Amino acid sequence: MAKGKVLLVLYEGKDSAKEEPRLLGCIENELGIRKLVEDAGYELVTTTNKDPEPTSQVDKELADTEIIITTPFYPAYVTASRIAKAPKLKMCITAGVGSDHVDLDAANKRNISVLEVTGSNVQSVAEHVMMTILVFIRNFIPSHQMAVGGGWDIAACAKHEYDLEGKVVATVGAGRIGYRVLERLVAFNPKKLLYYDYQPLPQEAVDKLNQASKLFNGTDNIVERVENLEDMVAEADIVTINCPLHAQSKGLFNKQLISKMKPTAYLVNTARGAICVAEDVAEAVKNGTIAGYGGDVWNVQPAPDNHPWRSMDNSWHGGNAMTPHISGTSLDAQKRYADGVKQILTAYFTGKHDYRPQDVIVINGDYATKSYGQRK
Ligand code: NAI
Repeated sequence: MAKGKVLLVLYEGKDSAKEEPRLLGCIENELGIRKLVEDAGYELVTTTNKDPEPTSQVDKELADTEIIITTPFYPAYVTASRIAKAPKLKMCITAGVGSDHVDLDAANKRNISVLEVTGSNVQSVAEHVMMTILVFIRNFIPSHQMAVGGGWDIAACAKHEYDLEGKVVATVGAGRIGYRVLERLVAFNPKKLLYYDYQPLPQEAVDKLNQASKLFNGTDNIVERVENLEDMVAEADIVTINCPLHAQSKGLFNKQLISKMKPTAYLVNTARGAICVAEDVAEAVKNGTIAGYGGDVWNVQPAPDNHPWRSMDNSWHGGNAMTPHISGTSLDAQKRYADGVKQILTAYFTGKHDYRPQDVIVINGDYATKSYGQRK
């Protein structure tokens, strides 16, 4: 008889690798945790069937589940109602970064720990942000479509093509990802790098960026903290969102805030879809309030076929640079977050609970991190 049940919810997929599996985050490879779980005397149940609540496989397993593991890319939403149906639930593990798919307040009330693999894919996301910024600035998508479609209208492509050099780039959130984006941007010789965060960057982190800019570009003091979000978005040519989703950031980019942005500006969101109001973004792109919106996160995942971000466009501005949620699940990232999940499980199964402090989001009925809008 198993000591307890571990429920693992992953996206559909098969690995073509003949030797060592690399697509660890898909259902076939189960993050490589089966042996670890079974050696600890637990049963591992793996499923892709997470929706709809309350009839999915996830819902059927809840009664005797002790640990739920899921990824943000295809998240099992651990809502208050699901928590209520899981009396034995002790821990939720996010195979990746960002645990907003768990109702953290409901978890706290039940003393359920929530952990994620902090830092496991921050470089992957920072690269995706850079790609999306460049895709927009260089007007890549419409130009590529023209190239493969047989056209040669240089004027149409170049009409909305710019250089990143000399532009003002702003990040909402300057934590692990936001800071890495700023680091990578320095090499492009921007005019200014602005950030809005209720935690100031350490002085040495700011100095590092300013010194690199001086060295590469001969420009000084390019980093600036902005206290007022509206002021920051009004000044920026590109705004990138890099903060977690929580009560204070949900719906932050609504019609009102977006209306402060320049009509030539781009909004890049690889943080969480629900930080933006989907319909307001789509409307702003369509009517030219902003030049484009891109990223990889959606307010519901998988996004329905008729989600407005699938079809929003403004033709030659290349206004839509969306992908499914892939930025944090490169093969390199999968290895890191699978290893991190194993580390968390080992700490739990041995009873030591010696987790890496940065991985703990909520524990013992309270928030352990400032990043989720708590303990300002
Ligand atoms: P982090 O905890 O290192 O940094 C987050 C920063 O955001 C902190 O400095 C915090 O003070 C700030 N912040 C929180 N609320 C804010 C608000 N309302 N306004 C401005 N700043 C605020 O987290 P990290 O690793 O940089 O990740 C950030 C988020 O990115 C994650 O919570 C997750 O939602 C998302 N993410 C997305 C991935 C993807 O695959 N697309 C992968 C990894 C993370």
